[in-house]
Amino acid sequence: MFFPSLALLAAAATAQAAIIDVQVGSSNGTLAFSPEAVSAQPGDQVVFHFQQKNHTATQSSFANPCAQKDGGFNSGFMPVPANQTDNFPTFTVPINDTTPVWVFCDQAANTAASHCGAGMVFAVNCGADGSANSFTNFKNAALAIGAELKAEAASSSAAAPASTDATASTTAAYGGITIPAAPSETVVTVTVTVEASSWTTVYSSYPGSPAATPASLEGTVHKVLVGNNGTLTYDPQFVVAAPRDIIQFEFHQKNHTATQSAFAAPCLPFVAADGTPGVDSGFMPVAANASAFPTWNVTVNDTNPLWFYCKQHSPDGSSHCGAGMVFAVNPVQTSPRNFSAFAALARTLNGTNASASASAPSGSGSAAPSATGTSGAASSAAASLALGLGSVLALFAVAL
Ligand SMILES: *[C@@H]1O[C@H](CO)[C@@H](O)[C@H](O)[C@H]1NC(C)=O
Ligand SMILES: *[C@@H]1O[C@H](CO)[C@@H](O)[C@H](O)[C@H]1NC(C)=O
Ligand SMILES: *[C@@H]1O[C@H](CO)[C@@H](O)[C@H](O)[C@H]1NC(C)=O
Ligand SMILES: *[C@@H]1O[C@H](CO)[C@@H](O)[C@H](O)[C@H]1NC(C)=O
Ligand SMILES: *[C@@H]1O[C@H](CO)[C@@H](O)[C@H](O)[C@H]1NC(C)=O
Ligand SMILES: *[C@@H]1O[C@H](CO)[C@@H](O)[C@H](O)[C@H]1NC(C)=O
Ligand SMILES: *[C@@H]1O[C@H](CO)[C@@H](O)[C@H](O)[C@H]1NC(C)=O
Ligand SMILES: *[C@@H]1O[C@H](CO)[C@@H](O)[C@H](O)[C@H]1NC(C)=O
Ligand SMILES: *[C@@H]1O[C@H](CO)[C@@H](O)[C@H](O)[C@H]1NC(C)=O
Ligand SMILES: *[C@@H]1O[C@H](CO)[C@@H](O)[C@H](O)[C@H]1NC(C)=O
Ligand SMILES: *[C@@H]1O[C@H](CO)[C@@H](O)[C@H](O)[C@H]1NC(C)=O
Ligand SMILES: *[C@@H]1O[C@H](CO)[C@@H](O)[C@H](O)[C@H]1NC(C)=O
Repeated sequence: MFFPSLALLAAAATAQAAIIDVQVGSSNGTLAFSPEAVSAQPGDQVVFHFQQKNHTATQSSFANPCAQKDGGFNSGFMPVPANQTDNFPTFTVPINDTTPVWVFCDQAANTAASHCGAGMVFAVNCGADGSANSFTNFKNAALAIGAELKAEAASSSAAAPASTDATASTTAAYGGITIPAAPSETVVTVTVTVEASSWTTVYSSYPGSPAATPASLEGTVHKVLVGNNGTLTYDPQFVVAAPRDIIQFEFHQKNHTATQSAFAAPCLPFVAADGTPGVDSGFMPVAANASAFPTWNVTVNDTNPLWFYCKQHSPDGSSHCGAGMVFAVNPVQTSPRNFSAFAALARTLNGTNASASASAPSGSGSAAPSATGTSGAASSAAASLALGLGSVLALFAVAL
């Protein structure tokens, strides 16, 4: 009896002693942790070795890759002169459990030169590739923040556009509510280089929008659980995705949809001004005893925000959308048209408190808000669809 349990204890003790070395930056200035992702057992220690330049290892969260997590660890800045070639400073983080640990370099935070925005991130015990919290998804979210910061810097150095007015407003497509105006868009033509392929693309840019540059030629799959565990939710609530990425909705028990809408009409199917309908999974009934879940994919074509909702109503007549069952791709989180504003609008317009007498929209352009502002959201919706198609052609045809 004693011998095996002692052997097990010894084995456990050996496993607990693991030291995992991670290089932060490099002599040639690479903005990366190496390795980028590791798995570790409780009791292991991750030791960061800071190379030349001036980096940090700061704990963040999956949802917010480039910001320090409340109460998270932080090495602080570790400046290392270019002529120092050994005795690099270290910072040790004990691993206490198997939950994922997300880490970034805080140098040049919130500027176009952000190290985190250049993809200088690291993870312990992240999800496997293809899962919602994979390292790839985490790093892409950081890169998207970097692209957004660069676009902001570029647009603020250009002649000050009068259209960035954060206080401009318009009226929702139904319900008579005042909402933030649509941003006005600028058409940008750029040469995109990804993995040694180059091509020219045209996309619509607006304050805070990242460049429509694919993160990879293949695209990343972002998995979104619909109605997981009986909840009226999409999980995650929104994703940051690059062109060519795939949003893979996985439908769980009950009978939900993923239906494209518009910010100004959160619980109605999107219809472009030219009458082209938006994308819609249709109803996906899943039996209570199901163990395999149907999926439905949407390819992301540019970086314009995409808004989604569930069309289903509960037996009592209440709307899933009005209960906040909404989702977004690339919401501009730094703008008034951010994800929480969208979810709040869905609750206000279609929640159980919504006025039953709220007038229904007229005509077929149901997703088009009345053009009261200077930046007609209707025309920008049309523009974004047209540009989306233009981008597809540019991205998919010219690349090959
Ligand atoms: C820079 O350093 C990293 C890590 O040491 C290495 O992987 C990479 O190949 C180097 N790049 C160049 C251009 O030397
Ligand atoms: C390291 O970077 C931080 C933040 O940018 C800066 O405040 C600090 O002065 C830098 N240290 C050195 C020695 O360059
Ligand atoms: C690095 O350079 C600085 C100034 O250029 C010098 O004072 C220092 O001694 C050098 N350090 C090493 C390790 O060579
Ligand atoms: C593990 O716990 C120690 C002590 O509370 C803490 O300093 C460290 O940051 C924790 N590690 C992680 C990855 O949170
Ligand atoms: C699923 O829901 C049940 C009951 O609400 C809860 O106890 C459980 O923790 C949930 N599981 C997950 C994975 O969210
Ligand atoms: C939301 O409310 C509008 C106006 O009352 C209605 O036309 C629409 O069908 C509702 N959508 C859902 C999903 O309940
Ligand atoms: C799913 O919901 C839709 C709309 O409520 C309904 O028409 C359809 O019959 C439902 N499917 C199943 C299998 O319950
Ligand atoms: C689920 O239940 C239905 C009827 O209640 C049955 O016909 C079906 O075989 C079951 N499916 C599985 C995967 O158990
Ligand atoms: C969605 O995309 C994933 C990843 O490419 C694939 O495995 C899955 O089969 C696709 N689902 C559908 C319904 O096409
Ligand atoms: C992106 O383009 C493809 C190919 O034209 C299309 O099937 C897909 O629905 C488009 N995605 C969106 C969100 O419109
Ligand atoms: C998000 O939207 C809400 C409602 O429009 C607004 O109060 C909040 O300031 C916005 N957040 C940011 C960062 O702009
Ligand atoms: C509905 O109204 C009740 C009572 O006024 C309030 O407590 C609740 O927060 C409201 N719910 C929503 C979704 O607005």
